[in-house]
Amino acid sequence: MSLLRRIQGSQPSPSPSQNPEPARSTPTPEAPPPPPRRPLPTTGGIRDAYVDLKNRIQAKLLSELEPTLNFSRTDELRAMIEEKFDAVLLEDHVVLSRLERQRLFEQIVAEILGYGPLEPLLRDDTITEIMVNGPKKVYIERNGRIERTNVVFEDDEHLMRIIERIVAPLGRRVDESQPYVDARLPDGSRVNIVIPPISLIGPVVTIRKFYRTPLTVDDLIRLGSATPEVMEFLKACVQARINIVVSGGTGSGKTTLLNILSGFIPEGERIITIENAAELQLRQEHVVTLETRPPNIEGKGEITMRDLVINALRMRPDRIIVGECRGGEAFDMLQAMNTGHEGSMTTIHANSPRDALARLENMVLMAGTDLPHRAIREQIAMAIDLIIQTARMRDGSRKIVSLTEIQGMEGQVIITTELFKFEQYGMEGGRIVGRLVPTGIRPRFMDRLEAADIRLPPSIFGAGRR
Ligand SMILES: Nc1ncnc2c1ncn2[C@@H]1O[C@H](COP(=O)(O)OP(=O)(O)OP(=O)(O)O)[C@@H](O)[C@H]1O
Ligand SMILES: [Mg+2]
Repeated sequence: MSLLRRIQGSQPSPSPSQNPEPARSTPTPEAPPPPPRRPLPTTGGIRDAYVDLKNRIQAKLLSELEPTLNFSRTDELRAMIEEKFDAVLLEDHVVLSRLERQRLFEQIVAEILGYGPLEPLLRDDTITEIMVNGPKKVYIERNGRIERTNVVFEDDEHLMRIIERIVAPLGRRVDESQPYVDARLPDGSRVNIVIPPISLIGPVVTIRKFYRTPLTVDDLIRLGSATPEVMEFLKACVQARINIVVSGGTGSGKTTLLNILSGFIPEGERIITIENAAELQLRQEHVVTLETRPPNIEGKGEITMRDLVINALRMRPDRIIVGECRGGEAFDMLQAMNTGHEGSMTTIHANSPRDALARLENMVLMAGTDLPHRAIREQIAMAIDLIIQTARMRDGSRKIVSLTEIQGMEGQVIITTELFKFEQYGMEGGRIVGRLVPTGIRPRFMDRLEAADIRLPPSIFGAGRR
């Protein structure tokens, strides 16, 4: 007899169903995403019976466990849950095969100790992003492509319980008065949560999975995101303390690239990293990692990026790495780059190098300086040497699409020169074919590379090819 029949046997009024698969939280992302608006097969007697059994056991367990819950002692708790789980099954005369029992047990443990239906997605290392659009629509990103999964939550409340589990240990909260929050899972994954009334489709959770082994230079080359020549050039730039901004759209690989660039910083320099949610993973020994803090429940105690950049200047840094410039901290970052902390780096959310410059200008204005535009542009032109533009391409790949040198000012305008640019030759099997090629122009800051005793073959910049 199947699990479902047996469960149904202990149910008062089972209704028929065509859905024989009760395990809802097992993702099958290979299945094509259902077309939008098609109702999910969320109802049906068998499913209901299964969910009901699970809920009943869960409720019983929770009522018995609650007073003694100490979530830090997971192993102990697991054993305790298992004991009670077996007792409940016995009491309710539910007979399960070993496999069924194990599956139900794991789901209940995931609900009580973990992140419920999200658990299998979190454990799957091939998934890089999880996007929950309300309880019934869960998408993932894998190999750069978004797919819908068949993972579902029972309802808004169920999803809210899991959200609570994410934010509560961090001392944060989400409710009507604070309807969105950034958080981080214990494994380092970055989480953003938005709930109604701001979200009109129920609670929304976006998780950027933490890469246990971050991408390396070789990965970038293998994935076609950069060429060996460009990576050699970038390594030289970092070693010669060129000030670099990585610019790109959301999820275009900015942080990943910043992490790789940081890896080129020679041992022995004092590096201070400043981030909203620590994502960078530097291998050097002498690294100080700082993270901002949101205001507490009374709205006090906020520590901003800007506070941390200003403070970092008093910590004798050789280099400052700012995870992402979004506001007034850009002003202090530029000043640091201009005053002895050359070789500092940051990322900016922008769609082109020009756009990045315009955004920087706006951010400096956000710092509340009353510098005239020209003076701000001068600061920017003096501070920044190189903008690396990243992009998420139509085929889901991430690429460096441009390296642009900032050369100075002419009148009111910042002069830029493109050193490398991505040229697309066509498409092959749904993949973009192309290459990041030199434009034939040597950077003006070559003398700084040479002063640092770094010699690059002129062919890197395309000399002799034109
Ligand atoms: N060159 C690459 N090739 C393939 N995948 C990449 C590459 N760079 C980054 N990724 C993946 O893309 C996702 C986004 O990367 P990353 O966090 O670096 O982007 P981001 O631009 O900093 O995003 P955000 O705007 O959200 O801060 C991650 O899952 C990362 O592993
Ligand atoms: Mg980022």
